[in-house]
Amino acid sequence: MSVRRLLLALPGNEEFAQRLARALAADFARVEARRFPDGESYVRLLVEPAGRVVDLVATLARPDEGFLQLVFAADAARELGATQVNLVAPYLAYMRQDHRFRPGEAVSSRSFARLVSSSFDRLVTVDPHLHRHRALSDIYTIRAEALQSAPLLADWIGTHVEKPLVIGPDEESAQWAGAIAARIGAPHVVLRKVRHGDREVEITLPDLERWRGHQPVLVDDIASSGRTLAVAARELSRRGLARPVCVVVHALFAGDAFETLAPLCARIVSTDSVAHPTNAIVLAPLLAAALRDGADR
Ligand code: R5P
Repeated sequence: MSVRRLLLALPGNEEFAQRLARALAADFARVEARRFPDGESYVRLLVEPAGRVVDLVATLARPDEGFLQLVFAADAARELGATQVNLVAPYLAYMRQDHRFRPGEAVSSRSFARLVSSSFDRLVTVDPHLHRHRALSDIYTIRAEALQSAPLLADWIGTHVEKPLVIGPDEESAQWAGAIAARIGAPHVVLRKVRHGDREVEITLPDLERWRGHQPVLVDDIASSGRTLAVAARELSRRGLARPVCVVVHALFAGDAFETLAPLCARIVSTDSVAHPTNAIVLAPLLAAALRDGADR
């Protein structure tokens, strides 16, 4: 009888990991983690990992808070005899600082990739922000898979929105907007964005007059400060289009982002890569298929 793989959830990832374990018919356990009084991390595995493939499940929306615990858990699993130690990170952090934009800046995407590669055998994630790095293999030295949620987003839009006009708010989102629109046979346009700071963006629109009868659907990989979507939504309204539906992969929504964006939109939905009230698109089947497929490699 083959040994069932073991999914271990880092704190905050229990619900997601349970959904994934059900989809995989795998065993699930949580990782115990807490702080010592001085702030250092204590980590303990509550299930014996010897002889098993272990998938640590941790979305990396706030990586600085939990990354050491993740590394400690991976090392513990390996030391205690796991045959393979994988990281399942539905949202992969530190992909946007992929270039030294100003002298002296750290290229954190490279450093983070080196740290993850030194602790895990395999990384599975969903729509990492690949822009100047063309593929995860540019910076990750382990087997690293970037799954695409565009078909799931497209199917949600196709089912819930009538006469959608798919809109990418910037050139980086053209890849998602194009793929989504193609799958549901909808038109799409891509806007132009200039970023002036973490929370300041300027967005220019092409002529959208012919799409007035359509429901705008803004699609983006990440909503962080929410400014990209908020500015795009405002510009669309200024042009007389309907309030957009926003569909995002990773609902980071830092600070007041969600409260600022919500009144500007007809609806906001996201995948469950980062737990948020807008979650409407479940990623477990996508991740389960990838993990199952690659089980023997
Ligand atoms: C970068 O261009 C990404 O695709 C997103 O548009 C960006 O990360 C969103 O960030 P924010 O919500 O802070 O505008």
